[in-house]
Amino acid sequence: MGTKKAYIKTFGCQMNVHDSEKMAGILEGQGYELTDDRRVADLVIYNTCSIRQKAEQKFLSDLGRLKPVKAQRPGLRIAVAGCLAQQMGESLIKRAPHVDFVLGPQNIHSLAEMTRENKPGGVATSENPDATLLELPASRKEGMRAWVSIMYGCNNFCTYCIVPYTRGRETSRNSLNIINEIKGLTKDGFKEVTLLGQNVNSYESDIGFVELLRKINEIDGLRRLRFVTNHPGNLSERLAEAIGGLDKVCEHIHLPIQSGSDSILRAMNRKYSFSDYMKCIELLRKYTPDIAITSDIIAGFPGETAEDHESTVNAVKSIEFDGLYAFRYSPRPGTKASDMDGHLDDPIKQERLLEILEIQDSITLRRNQALEGRVMEVMLDIPPGTNGPDGSVASGRTRTNKIVNIANHVNGSDCFAMVRITRGNKHSLSAEPA
Ligand code: 5AD
Ligand code: SF4
Repeated sequence: MGTKKAYIKTFGCQMNVHDSEKMAGILEGQGYELTDDRRVADLVIYNTCSIRQKAEQKFLSDLGRLKPVKAQRPGLRIAVAGCLAQQMGESLIKRAPHVDFVLGPQNIHSLAEMTRENKPGGVATSENPDATLLELPASRKEGMRAWVSIMYGCNNFCTYCIVPYTRGRETSRNSLNIINEIKGLTKDGFKEVTLLGQNVNSYESDIGFVELLRKINEIDGLRRLRFVTNHPGNLSERLAEAIGGLDKVCEHIHLPIQSGSDSILRAMNRKYSFSDYMKCIELLRKYTPDIAITSDIIAGFPGETAEDHESTVNAVKSIEFDGLYAFRYSPRPGTKASDMDGHLDDPIKQERLLEILEIQDSITLRRNQALEGRVMEVMLDIPPGTNGPDGSVASGRTRTNKIVNIANHVNGSDCFAMVRITRGNKHSLSAEPA
């Protein structure tokens, strides 16, 4: 027989990446071995994303390719998890009968029962507000950087977004469980933790988010603390102050703006205006002058006029983000925006997207070039000793989350290195040992 093997393919955001680690943890507890080779797997799991149509199509075509494989090996079990599983539920099995199990993000724990009972046709997509109370094991591959969930779900209902429908209502994990998990991770040698939630700055459990950061900041052995993702509506001065004041909290924030036009922000139900957003930026830069700020923008939201788009372009120019994730608006069935008037044609969305990205590209380059000559701390991507011989190229990240390639790297015993930036590039920094 040998050990059963499982293959997990993850689409989408960090939340999904970490959910896959939890599924891996559950499976290892059941004696499965994880494999990177789908052909030898007894169980294939797709952890899906439905934030934009593209991610959905990619998964569906991948899934189609498994049909003949299943016909040849009827014992193969196929599970679909994640946001698309939640949305499609039962209908996924009707559409693709070679799928055995369907489980949504609030029902990851059901994987244990499904694989134990091994009865095809299992669907677990019920609302499960108690999922936060379950402490699931996570199998983390990397060894130095870890994701830690602090909250689940979202209550914001931005009109374009499917997430509140697939991940349910906001629930925060108890701080003691979070702190214990991070203490365990640092004992295992992890140096960096990224707190995860759809809207981490609205974390509210036995304590609030700023208090949680303070407590985690005190954990011995932890060197870097990050968190994603944030909503500008919940960014308080206390939080801006904490980012500047707590030594382990890294000088980087991802703060999605989505649009620079007030009327589009209103149609998106973002609950802030452009000037509210600018106040957040001012606060962040007041307490942390060198903070790196990254953001998300949606190009071509329904009803977006040329003037609205111009406002977004001007916002990008005046804020000067360090990086930007911009996407064409993608209608998601079931969301309010998909029923709005004024949907734009794809070529217009594409043209606006390209304009935004082009402007940001030159800003990113300029901001990276401004770092030339600076000495910065880099956390190496792989542990010392595995970085190759002295003189080779090593890579890592600054506290501001910029990718650095270090020439003539000297292999030390620490996974941190001080480097001098020699060149700022479009997507990375070049450096040498300082
Ligand atoms: N179309 C395009 N982009 C979207 N996002 C969320 N929903 C959509 C959609 N329907 C983007 C937002 C969000 C990021 C994670 O994905 O910018 O911040
Ligand atoms: Fe979606 Fe808005 Fe919630 Fe983010 S805050 S997950 S964009 S609804």
